[in-house]
Amino acid sequence: MAASPLGYVRLRGVSAASLKHIPGSDFPPLIGQSLQFLADPIEYCRRTEARFGPVSRGSFLFERRVNLLSADANEFVLADRAHNFSAYRGWHPVIGQLFPRGLMLRDGDDHRDQRRLMQPAFRKEALAQYLARMNPRIAAAVREWRGRGRFRFYPEIKHLTLALAADVFLGLELQAEVDQVNRDFVDIVEATAAIVRLPVLGFNYARGIRARRRLERFLRERIALRRKGQGTDLFSQMCRLGTDGGDPLRDDEIVDHLIFVMMAAHDTTTSAITTMVHALGKHPEWQDRLRQDARAIGKTAPDFDDLERLESTVWVLREALRLYPPLTVILRRAVKDCEIHGFHIPAHTPVNIFPVHTQRQAQWWTDPERFDPDRFSPARAEHKRHPFAWAPFGGGAHMCLGLHFAELQVKAVMQPLLLASRIKLDDDYRIPYQLAPIVKPRDGLPIQLSPA
Ligand code: HEM
Repeated sequence: MAASPLGYVRLRGVSAASLKHIPGSDFPPLIGQSLQFLADPIEYCRRTEARFGPVSRGSFLFERRVNLLSADANEFVLADRAHNFSAYRGWHPVIGQLFPRGLMLRDGDDHRDQRRLMQPAFRKEALAQYLARMNPRIAAAVREWRGRGRFRFYPEIKHLTLALAADVFLGLELQAEVDQVNRDFVDIVEATAAIVRLPVLGFNYARGIRARRRLERFLRERIALRRKGQGTDLFSQMCRLGTDGGDPLRDDEIVDHLIFVMMAAHDTTTSAITTMVHALGKHPEWQDRLRQDARAIGKTAPDFDDLERLESTVWVLREALRLYPPLTVILRRAVKDCEIHGFHIPAHTPVNIFPVHTQRQAQWWTDPERFDPDRFSPARAEHKRHPFAWAPFGGGAHMCLGLHFAELQVKAVMQPLLLASRIKLDDDYRIPYQLAPIVKPRDGLPIQLSPA
């Protein structure tokens, strides 16, 4: 494994000659189209497809890559029925040093076995327990926001989802511990967006690596106690695996999985809820619909079955994720020669697929730029026109393990938020989105909550 000049890990790639048959542009592999992509991934994909079609070569993230811009290609890569692609080799150069051996960075039998071990922690009974733990914290946050006047929503919801994750995933109760873990965590996540990845003091990346080491120590020191306890948090559940005769997880596996899940869980859900709040501010008619559903439940601490009834909230979430999927690009690397849309993809080629693009393609979506949650209603079901046109949670073996948790958390926040408050945006407000690496508003999304 080698490192690029700015510290990126390099795996074996492909020569320029071996991709010559694929249409595309010849950018130098160092920065390539990274800046165009980061500036506006939606426009980048649109222009690339218009110019070169659904398969094109380009270069970003310090490598020659192939961009795949169709729903069929999403399916080819994500369902991966012929085992052509490695998720580990796709993600490792970008996040492998900060999130080593996380579930998404594993392949084949090893991935399947580890995923199976983690699955019970994401089933209905576990989710219902997480919800009961989350409700009081959510209610307190919503109460506090209501008394605030105008405030920036994004940092608040980010703070809340991190605190909820520290509770339901790590079982932390002492505020000082929650604060320390959250600080370390923010440093690790910020390091994933660092352009310079050299372990040099003063750079975000080095700070992230140090925070990761601290967090590893912190978790490792608590494993023995969690093994003996009766905690319902994810950490405790993972520590107790094997006590009933099944396979246990090793200490280092527990630590790696937890740190990865914390990362996978909070920025994505924060992004989704923020997009929803903005959309609801712009579309008061949808706010009224969701508020009616929230009132039909009638309590501020709904249980799992209550939340199942919030059907329109799910449509709004799906529409928010369609227009602004938190993860705009999903990375893989071919492990053998394969072919898509008539183009040969040589082994070792890094490939990108873009939910953000297929989720706005006119061939699958009616008036695709319009916010129209009804498209997910059973009567219209536009997401069923192609099983992989809508893929904000990915698909196939690596399909998001936390998608039901995400949906639950979104509903658990939106229900009390809308029950008694109206979301108001400034007149003529236009959200300055940053779309990569994770979708978020550059201005923190100023809003006001007035009584409903
Ligand atoms: C709206 C919120 C979320 C979105 C949009 C999202 C998106 C995704 C996507 C696209 C993938 C697949 C990446 C790939 O195939 O390479 C993924 C994987 C994963 N997500 Fe999520 N996620 C969300 C919330 C969560 C939450 C709340 C958790 C944990 C509680 C979570 C845990 C995971 C895990 C563990 C994986 C790896 C699965 C595997 O490799 O088998 N995610 N997520």
